[in-house]
Amino acid sequence: MSETSWVTKAVIPVGGMGTRFLPATKAMPKEMLPLVDRPVIQFVVEEAVEAGLTDVLFVTGRNKNALENHFDRSTEVENLLESRGDATRLSEVMKATSLANIHYVRQGDALGLGHAVLKSRQHVGHEPFVVLLGDDVMEIEDQLLRDMLDAYREYNATIIALIEVDPDQIHLYGCAEVETTSDAQLVRIKNLVEKPQTGTAPSNLAIIGRYVLKPEIFDVLENTKPGAGGEIQLTDALKVLAQDDKIAGPVFGFIYKGKRYDTGDKLGYIQAVVEMALQRKDIGPALKQWLKQFGGG
Ligand code: G1P
Repeated sequence: MSETSWVTKAVIPVGGMGTRFLPATKAMPKEMLPLVDRPVIQFVVEEAVEAGLTDVLFVTGRNKNALENHFDRSTEVENLLESRGDATRLSEVMKATSLANIHYVRQGDALGLGHAVLKSRQHVGHEPFVVLLGDDVMEIEDQLLRDMLDAYREYNATIIALIEVDPDQIHLYGCAEVETTSDAQLVRIKNLVEKPQTGTAPSNLAIIGRYVLKPEIFDVLENTKPGAGGEIQLTDALKVLAQDDKIAGPVFGFIYKGKRYDTGDKLGYIQAVVEMALQRKDIGPALKQWLKQFGGG
């Protein structure tokens, strides 16, 4: 099997319509919803950068101009802050533009996550790469992606992040059938089912939106037919790899025990905003005080 290569590229599909947050997302990408004062998508890019990735490809769709503008310079805003001597805000505003080398490709037809990942083929080329899904925000200190990249380098395997969920929630996710390994955090994936119907899930291990993939996935995706929801599913392509390790080596699941915010869900989003606001020095103490009164009222 080939040597592992250094991973530098992140692919972030952002072509989704954000229907769960309508009407807020009618004219604004869901990825731009703020967690206090930074948009969700910035947390995801910061996580990729923190893990050592330097190149980000967004697979975008219609209506995503605000996202592109967020990662671009805004001389108007910068000049205004500079003239006011507001160095703190200026550095916050500038941060998004200098995080990584950012690229865009349009998805065209929205045929599913597998289709979005396939659109990155030309940009990624023959390298291993990371896929991050924008709805899932991880606590950066928990270093999930760093640990997954370490596992990739150690085993030269495809690595998928998994969490344990309540069995009544597993139908919302891709679900993994696994075998244990000698490493407590890693499991060998034997089978995958996207959005299993109630009562049919092989486990309560759910895929969350972080993947370390090898370029062999692209050939498999080219031949992946629409699956759950009529969409071309990344999970279905990963299942093919998991069931034939001659294609690209084994597929491992990395069991994540850290903090995850599901910002694609209304309740999850509100919880993320409140928890992050509570951690902030500027507004945390006042919010805590207010929540006590509010909760008791
Ligand atoms: C996608 C994946 C699914 C995964 C989930 C994690 O589904 O297809 O396997 O469990 O992300 O957030 P979506 O939430 O886009 O329907």
